[in-house]
Amino acid sequence: MIPCLGIFDSGVGGFTVLNRVLERHRNISCLYLGDTARVPYGEKKPFQIRSIASEIVQWFRVQEVSAILVACNTTNSLAFDIVQDVADIPVMGLINSASATITEKRVGVLATSATVSSRAYKKHIEAIRPGTLVIEKACPELVPLIEAGHSSANSIQKIAYEYLQPLLDAQVEAIILGCSHYPLILPVLQQFVPEDVRIIDPAVAMACQLDSLLGQPEFSFQYPVLSSNTRFYVTSDPIGFATKATPLIGIRPEVELISLQPKACFF
Ligand code: DGL
Repeated sequence: MIPCLGIFDSGVGGFTVLNRVLERHRNISCLYLGDTARVPYGEKKPFQIRSIASEIVQWFRVQEVSAILVACNTTNSLAFDIVQDVADIPVMGLINSASATITEKRVGVLATSATVSSRAYKKHIEAIRPGTLVIEKACPELVPLIEAGHSSANSIQKIAYEYLQPLLDAQVEAIILGCSHYPLILPVLQQFVPEDVRIIDPAVAMACQLDSLLGQPEFSFQYPVLSSNTRFYVTSDPIGFATKATPLIGIRPEVELISLQPKACFF
């Protein structure tokens, strides 16, 4: 039986993880869940993020996935313990994966407000490489703009530049894209980041770490990487999501609407 991975994010950000995983591991099936009814997660309170994570993992358990990839740094920062407890199957997160690849002494992190407030990247990196300077910058305006399809608009360029400025002023040697939506604006970010500063997409390290569960990959790159073995679910607007997904994954997916929140009881 081929392994079935559950991958989730608040919206389209998790595609950056799905793509990296399927480029490396082709012989798997995936269930992708975008919690579109509640995007963005990054401005929510920790208790909300934890409660949402629990609902999502319970749903994946019913689907009988064999492992869960937390394709959302915000959930990874604030609710990884809950995901692990409820899942009771292997769980992988982006923060551990990315932190383990750090070799630089001065590291910048772009992330959501919730991820930055949690200091999760700083704690992980400092635990693995004591003495590393980690500077985190919250970018609250990016996810709503990316979800609205403005990934290359002038407005996003100006905002991206403002968010990068404190990291560049601090002369960081690497910048972690600490929100899975941000690799979708990589060309915008690259314009402002000097070539000798490494831009890190945590999904690359996560896809490699998956080898421990799935075995060594065969490296037979083909595009699009998606096959009929990937199914898509959202908590609102399946048609809008399919439209947004098309340029990001190379095909127009069929998207199923699901409900995660407990239903009201009328008796
Ligand atoms: N893409 C997610 C992350 O990595 C969530 C962003 C959001 O919904 O604010 O943090």
